[in-house]
Amino acid sequence: MPRTIALLVGSLREGSFTRKIAKAIEERAPLLKFDPVEIGDLPLYNEDIDRGSPPAEWSRVRNQVKAAAGILFATPEYNRSVPGLLKNAIDVLSRPYGKNNFDGKPAAVVSVSPGAVGGFGAHHHLRQSLVFLNTPVLQQPEMYIGNVKTLMDDKGVITNPDTGKFLEAFAAKFSDWVEKFAK
Ligand code: FNR
Repeated sequence: MPRTIALLVGSLREGSFTRKIAKAIEERAPLLKFDPVEIGDLPLYNEDIDRGSPPAEWSRVRNQVKAAAGILFATPEYNRSVPGLLKNAIDVLSRPYGKNNFDGKPAAVVSVSPGAVGGFGAHHHLRQSLVFLNTPVLQQPEMYIGNVKTLMDDKGVITNPDTGKFLEAFAAKFSDWVEKFAK
Protein backbone atom coordinates (compact mmCIF):
# COMPACT_ATOMS: atom_id res chain seq x y z
CA MET A 1 0.00 0.00 0.00
CA PRO A 2 1.46 3.40 -0.94
CA ARG A 3 1.86 5.90 1.89
CA THR A 4 -0.45 8.90 1.79
CA ILE A 5 1.34 12.24 1.53
CA ALA A 6 -0.55 15.46 2.23
CA LEU A 7 0.40 17.80 -0.61
CA LEU A 8 0.46 21.52 0.22
CA VAL A 9 0.96 23.70 -2.87
CA GLY A 10 1.52 27.42 -2.40
CA SER A 11 -0.19 28.47 -5.64
CA LEU A 12 -3.81 28.79 -6.70
CA ARG A 13 -2.92 29.45 -10.33
CA GLU A 14 -4.53 27.07 -12.78
CA GLY A 15 -1.34 26.62 -14.78
CA SER A 16 0.89 26.53 -11.69
CA PHE A 17 4.41 25.29 -12.47
CA THR A 18 4.75 24.32 -8.83
CA ARG A 19 1.77 21.97 -8.99
CA LYS A 20 3.13 20.48 -12.22
CA ILE A 21 6.44 19.74 -10.52
CA ALA A 22 4.59 18.10 -7.61
CA LYS A 23 2.72 15.93 -10.12
CA ALA A 24 5.97 15.00 -11.85
CA ILE A 25 7.38 13.91 -8.48
CA GLU A 26 4.32 11.79 -7.69
CA GLU A 27 4.63 10.07 -11.06
CA ARG A 28 8.14 9.02 -10.01
CA ALA A 29 7.17 7.86 -6.53
CA PRO A 30 5.41 4.48 -6.75
CA LEU A 31 5.48 4.08 -2.96
CA LEU A 32 3.66 7.38 -2.32
CA LYS A 33 0.16 8.63 -3.04
CA PHE A 34 -0.29 12.41 -2.92
CA ASP A 35 -3.44 13.76 -1.31
CA PRO A 36 -3.80 17.42 -2.38
CA VAL A 37 -4.89 19.65 0.50
CA GLU A 38 -7.21 22.45 -0.63
CA ILE A 39 -5.91 25.57 1.10
CA GLY A 40 -7.40 28.31 -1.09
CA ASP A 41 -10.62 28.51 0.92
CA LEU A 42 -9.13 28.66 4.42
CA PRO A 43 -10.26 31.70 6.41
CA LEU A 44 -7.27 33.72 7.63
CA TYR A 45 -6.05 32.39 10.96
CA ASN A 46 -7.52 34.09 13.99
CA GLU A 47 -6.95 32.74 17.51
CA ASP A 48 -10.25 34.16 18.75
CA ILE A 49 -12.21 31.96 16.35
CA ASP A 50 -10.10 28.92 17.22
CA ARG A 51 -11.19 29.15 20.87
CA GLY A 52 -14.79 28.34 19.99
CA SER A 53 -15.75 25.98 17.22
CA PRO A 54 -13.32 26.43 14.34
CA PRO A 55 -14.45 26.91 10.73
CA ALA A 56 -15.20 23.67 8.92
CA GLU A 57 -12.40 24.41 6.41
CA TRP A 58 -9.82 24.44 9.22
CA SER A 59 -11.09 21.14 10.66
CA ARG A 60 -11.05 19.58 7.19
CA VAL A 61 -7.38 20.33 6.51
CA ARG A 62 -6.32 19.47 10.05
CA ASN A 63 -7.92 16.02 9.76
CA GLN A 64 -6.44 15.52 6.31
CA VAL A 65 -2.90 16.25 7.46
CA LYS A 66 -3.35 14.25 10.66
CA ALA A 67 -4.27 11.19 8.58
CA ALA A 68 -1.25 11.46 6.26
CA ALA A 69 2.03 9.58 6.68
CA GLY A 70 4.00 12.62 5.51
CA ILE A 71 3.81 16.06 3.94
CA LEU A 72 5.21 17.56 0.76
CA PHE A 73 5.43 21.34 0.64
CA ALA A 74 5.69 22.59 -2.95
CA THR A 75 6.07 26.33 -3.02
CA PRO A 76 6.61 29.18 -5.41
CA GLU A 77 8.47 32.24 -4.16
CA TYR A 78 6.60 35.49 -3.60
CA ASN A 79 8.82 38.46 -2.82
CA ARG A 80 11.61 36.18 -1.67
CA SER A 81 9.33 34.39 0.79
CA VAL A 82 6.47 31.92 1.09
CA PRO A 83 3.15 32.99 -0.52
CA GLY A 84 0.66 34.18 2.11
CA LEU A 85 -1.68 31.38 1.06
CA LEU A 86 0.76 28.74 2.24
CA LYS A 87 1.80 30.62 5.37
CA ASN A 88 -1.84 30.89 6.39
CA ALA A 89 -2.30 27.14 5.90
CA ILE A 90 0.75 26.47 8.06
CA ASP A 91 -0.61 28.74 10.77
CA VAL A 92 -4.00 27.00 10.69
CA LEU A 93 -2.43 23.54 10.76
CA SER A 94 -0.08 24.39 13.61
CA ARG A 95 -2.88 25.36 16.00
CA PRO A 96 -4.77 25.40 18.35
CA TYR A 97 -1.88 25.55 20.82
CA GLY A 98 -0.78 22.05 21.74
CA LYS A 99 -2.33 20.47 18.65
CA ASN A 100 0.37 21.10 16.08
CA ASN A 101 -0.34 18.81 13.13
CA PHE A 102 3.26 19.02 11.93
CA ASP A 103 4.82 17.68 15.11
CA GLY A 104 7.03 14.71 14.23
CA LYS A 105 5.52 14.27 10.75
CA PRO A 106 8.12 13.58 8.03
CA ALA A 107 8.17 16.23 5.32
CA ALA A 108 10.05 17.60 2.36
CA VAL A 109 10.21 21.01 0.67
CA VAL A 110 10.38 21.74 -3.05
CA SER A 111 10.62 25.32 -4.26
CA VAL A 112 9.90 26.22 -7.87
CA SER A 113 10.47 29.35 -9.94
CA PRO A 114 10.73 30.53 -13.53
CA GLY A 115 13.73 32.51 -12.26
CA ALA A 116 17.28 31.29 -11.85
CA VAL A 117 17.39 31.23 -8.04
CA GLY A 118 14.80 28.43 -7.74
CA GLY A 119 12.80 29.96 -4.90
CA PHE A 120 15.68 29.70 -2.43
CA GLY A 121 14.26 32.49 -0.23
CA ALA A 122 10.81 30.90 0.03
CA HIS A 123 12.36 27.50 0.59
CA HIS A 124 14.36 28.58 3.61
CA HIS A 125 11.67 30.78 5.13
CA LEU A 126 9.50 27.68 5.03
CA ARG A 127 12.20 25.55 6.64
CA GLN A 128 12.49 28.16 9.40
CA SER A 129 8.82 27.61 10.33
CA LEU A 130 9.26 23.85 10.16
CA VAL A 131 12.13 23.92 12.65
CA PHE A 132 9.85 25.68 15.12
CA LEU A 133 7.07 23.18 14.41
CA ASN A 134 9.33 20.19 15.10
CA THR A 135 8.82 18.76 11.62
CA PRO A 136 11.56 16.40 10.46
CA VAL A 137 12.36 17.73 6.99
CA LEU A 138 14.39 15.76 4.45
CA GLN A 139 17.70 17.59 4.11
CA GLN A 140 19.08 16.21 0.84
CA PRO A 141 18.64 16.53 -2.02
CA GLU A 142 17.78 20.23 -1.70
CA MET A 143 15.01 20.84 -4.21
CA TYR A 144 15.38 24.27 -5.78
CA ILE A 145 13.76 24.01 -9.21
CA GLY A 146 14.82 27.11 -11.15
CA ASN A 147 14.14 28.11 -14.77
CA VAL A 148 11.13 25.83 -14.56
CA LYS A 149 9.61 26.95 -17.87
CA THR A 150 12.56 25.44 -19.73
CA LEU A 151 12.21 22.03 -18.03
CA MET A 152 8.72 20.97 -19.11
CA ASP A 153 6.27 21.17 -21.98
CA ASP A 154 2.87 22.92 -21.88
CA LYS A 155 1.25 19.91 -20.24
CA GLY A 156 3.85 19.72 -17.47
CA VAL A 157 5.66 16.72 -18.90
CA ILE A 158 9.33 17.00 -17.92
CA THR A 159 11.40 17.39 -21.08
CA ASN A 160 14.81 17.86 -19.48
CA PRO A 161 16.27 14.38 -18.83
CA ASP A 162 18.52 15.56 -15.97
CA THR A 163 15.55 17.12 -14.21
CA GLY A 164 13.60 13.89 -14.66
CA LYS A 165 16.42 11.96 -12.99
CA PHE A 166 16.71 14.53 -10.22
CA LEU A 167 12.98 14.32 -9.45
CA GLU A 168 13.20 10.54 -9.47
CA ALA A 169 16.13 10.54 -7.04
CA PHE A 170 14.26 12.93 -4.76
CA ALA A 171 11.12 10.76 -4.89
CA ALA A 172 13.16 7.74 -3.77
CA LYS A 173 14.83 9.63 -0.90
CA PHE A 174 11.55 11.10 0.25
CA SER A 175 9.88 7.65 0.17
CA ASP A 176 12.69 6.27 2.35
CA TRP A 177 12.36 9.24 4.68
CA VAL A 178 8.61 8.72 5.15
CA GLU A 179 9.14 5.00 5.70
CA LYS A 180 11.56 5.68 8.55
CA PHE A 181 8.82 7.44 10.49
CA ALA A 182 5.96 5.10 9.53
CA LYS A 183 3.93 3.71 12.42
C1 FNR B 1 6.39 36.44 -7.93
N1 FNR B 1 7.40 35.75 -8.58
C2 FNR B 1 8.64 35.62 -7.99
N2 FNR B 1 9.58 34.73 -8.48
C3 FNR B 1 10.77 34.56 -7.84
O1 FNR B 1 11.59 33.76 -8.28
N3 FNR B 1 11.05 35.27 -6.70
C4 FNR B 1 10.18 36.16 -6.16
O2 FNR B 1 10.48 36.74 -5.13
C5 FNR B 1 8.93 36.35 -6.82
N4 FNR B 1 8.00 37.23 -6.30
C6 FNR B 1 6.71 37.20 -6.77
C7 FNR B 1 5.71 37.90 -6.10
C8 FNR B 1 4.41 37.81 -6.52
C9 FNR B 1 3.32 38.51 -5.75
C10 FNR B 1 4.08 37.05 -7.67
C11 FNR B 1 2.64 36.92 -8.14
C12 FNR B 1 5.04 36.37 -8.36
C13 FNR B 1 7.12 35.05 -9.85
C14 FNR B 1 6.67 33.62 -9.60
O3 FNR B 1 7.78 32.80 -9.42
C15 FNR B 1 5.84 33.11 -10.79
O4 FNR B 1 4.65 33.87 -10.89
C16 FNR B 1 5.52 31.62 -10.69
O5 FNR B 1 4.98 31.17 -11.88
C17 FNR B 1 4.58 31.32 -9.52
O6 FNR B 1 4.47 29.94 -9.32
P1 FNR B 1 3.29 29.07 -9.95
O7 FNR B 1 1.99 29.80 -9.71
O8 FNR B 1 3.59 28.94 -11.41
O9 FNR B 1 3.35 27.76 -9.26
